[in-house]
Amino acid sequence: MAERLDKMIADAENCTRSKARSTIRCGAVEVDGETVRDIAYRADPARERITVSGRPIAAGRSYIMMNKPAGVVSATRAQGERTVLDLLPPGLRRRGLFPAGRLDKDTTGFLLITDDGPFAHEILSPRRHVEKEYEALLECPAAPEDIQAFAQGLRLRDGTLCAPAVLELDAARTTARIVIREGKYHQVRRMFEAVGNYVVSLRRLRIGGLYLDAALAPGAARLMTPEEVRKVRGSCGE
Ligand code: URA
Repeated sequence: MAERLDKMIADAENCTRSKARSTIRCGAVEVDGETVRDIAYRADPARERITVSGRPIAAGRSYIMMNKPAGVVSATRAQGERTVLDLLPPGLRRRGLFPAGRLDKDTTGFLLITDDGPFAHEILSPRRHVEKEYEALLECPAAPEDIQAFAQGLRLRDGTLCAPAVLELDAARTTARIVIREGKYHQVRRMFEAVGNYVVSLRRLRIGGLYLDAALAPGAARLMTPEEVRKVRGSCGE
């Protein structure tokens, strides 16, 4: 969809509208290889190549994969604390980004950050049953019966009933893989609490059909490819 160039540049570059206008007026912006100095020019980022100082802008919606480190809050703002948005490199920052689903401060792994509200709703809605896979390091070896308890739907200590979940254990039964299809507050930690265990560390490995990119260091983030977005989205059941 065609949009005013000054608004598009401000959104894509995460700068003010007046900064975007001066960038355009000074001749740094090209549309399909032609310099455009008219701030009200309308361009369509889906059809035209728009660049600032030769660099293509990230127009349209952003879908970012982050390998969240421990000690950072999954929120857009947190008083006196670092948020996941603070970790984004300048090239990925733009207005309207938020984490699509939270991880606890000490949970690490795959966090999806976007500015696409309907997409976030789609993957977070409990009715959509998007799978999330975690790896947990446990304080005590899990009991083999826990597998069945998770599969039946656990009742948490406060009485909340969880939907059936998959639990797999390693030989020592202290490293667990858990697949859940909902996102209750501290859910995985509370599930293990309900069976008398304790989660020492927790990492999210997968959302829907997409695994965390093993090449992303803790704290690093990158744009997801359209194929990766489809893998998350395509796994949304009705
Ligand atoms: N379950 C938890 O307990 N914590 C998370 O961060 C995610 C799932």
